[in-house]
Amino acid sequence: MSEKFIIEPSERLVGELAIAGAKNAVLPVLAAALLTRGTSFIQNVPHLSDVESMCQLLESLGAKSRWDVGNGDLAIDTQNLLTHEASYELVGKLRASFLVMGPLLACMGRAKVPLPGGCAIGTRPVDLHLKGFAALGADIDHSHGYVTVTAPKLRGAKIYLDFPSVGATENIMMAAALAEGQTILENCAVEPEIVDLANFLNSAGAQIRGAGTDTIKITGVNQCQLKGTEHSVIPDRIEAGTFMVAAALTRGDILLNNVMADHVKPVTAKLKEVGVQVDELETGIRVRHAHGQEVISADIKTLPYPGFPTDMQAQFMSLLATAKGTSIVTETVFENRFMQVGELKRMGAEIKIDSRSAVIEGVDNLAGAQVAASDLRAGAALVLAGLCAQGTTEITGIHHIDRGYCRLDDKLNGLGAKIKRVECE
Ligand code: EPZ
Repeated sequence: MSEKFIIEPSERLVGELAIAGAKNAVLPVLAAALLTRGTSFIQNVPHLSDVESMCQLLESLGAKSRWDVGNGDLAIDTQNLLTHEASYELVGKLRASFLVMGPLLACMGRAKVPLPGGCAIGTRPVDLHLKGFAALGADIDHSHGYVTVTAPKLRGAKIYLDFPSVGATENIMMAAALAEGQTILENCAVEPEIVDLANFLNSAGAQIRGAGTDTIKITGVNQCQLKGTEHSVIPDRIEAGTFMVAAALTRGDILLNNVMADHVKPVTAKLKEVGVQVDELETGIRVRHAHGQEVISADIKTLPYPGFPTDMQAQFMSLLATAKGTSIVTETVFENRFMQVGELKRMGAEIKIDSRSAVIEGVDNLAGAQVAASDLRAGAALVLAGLCAQGTTEITGIHHIDRGYCRLDDKLNGLGAKIKRVECE
């Protein structure tokens, strides 16, 4: 049965919240567990439907997963992998499933994974992933909607990525971990999630240097050298950014614990630019905006890390929709990531899209309306808009939101919001 949110205008959000582990860190780490033999204990794992989907996929490959409810850990036993083939149904539920290709290729000599389809935000090609595998010596075959890669033995290579793709960097790094010799990956992604993945792999016995810079050096090791390990996932910088915007939008005062200040620097800088007070504390981040104080307009251009994150573009647009003045948001990473615009306009926002830019004329107030979430971050943006809109907002399609936010409604209600989760008729 599908559900929807019913959101009443909220008072100032005030209080303290611990940020969960990062979805975009735990998904590649779970895929990387396929490279090891034994059991890995992953801590600080967020209970998300995307994580459940990845666990289902790993189990379909022969791994075993167990939530150790005691301390929210997830145990992954990869002792007996059974197949190199990922199922269409499971990959179709989670694009990030394509990250199992590198590990399967490396440890089984082949991998057969459905070509991921596009999604709401873009065509999401995987050509850079495949170019990397080919450079490592794999044969690539496309047929009947599947990609099959085979290589009895991968050999290290020098690979230059045309674009610093997060997924391609992760997939190629995992494949190279067991390749013969050294792989040098240049112009690679530098996101914190890449560093977290390299830390997991190194703690399992891999030899990866330079993660977090645009050149990563991977010295291949033997399969038997990669063992199950323990790893705690970094905090989710996008969940943190989402709550930081919520504090600004509702003129609230929120202390976010378990946040790595460095990871949210671009969002902190932009919030300060629009007049919001952000304090980096020992234990986390405090975001305040006085009642009655305006938010000033600002321009945003999304870029690979450490630029302003594309995953925060929609949420910040909800803030700019009621800022004083005109703002221009340019989305350079994905070709179709303005899905929230139409819905925000139904709430009274004044936004014009011109190719990859959106021009936002701030209005005094948004008005509650019935809107639909089309993807994870657009859905989060609509929740934020509903917090400060005049009147009731109903949001359908909230399964998109549950993919990347663990009980977003409960967490916001804990800070003073008024969100009800109800079954759709
Ligand atoms: C990761 O997706 C994240 N997902 C995305 O988060 C995030 O928006 C994105 O990185 C950018 O930061 C996970 O980590 C699970 P990319 P990914 O490869 O790896 C093009 C969220 O909301 N490209 O860096 O798919 C691609 O089309 C999600 O949590 C190619 O052209 O992102 C896009 O335009 C959404 N060929 C750009 O690069 C390729 O082979 C960035 O994609 C690969 C990518």
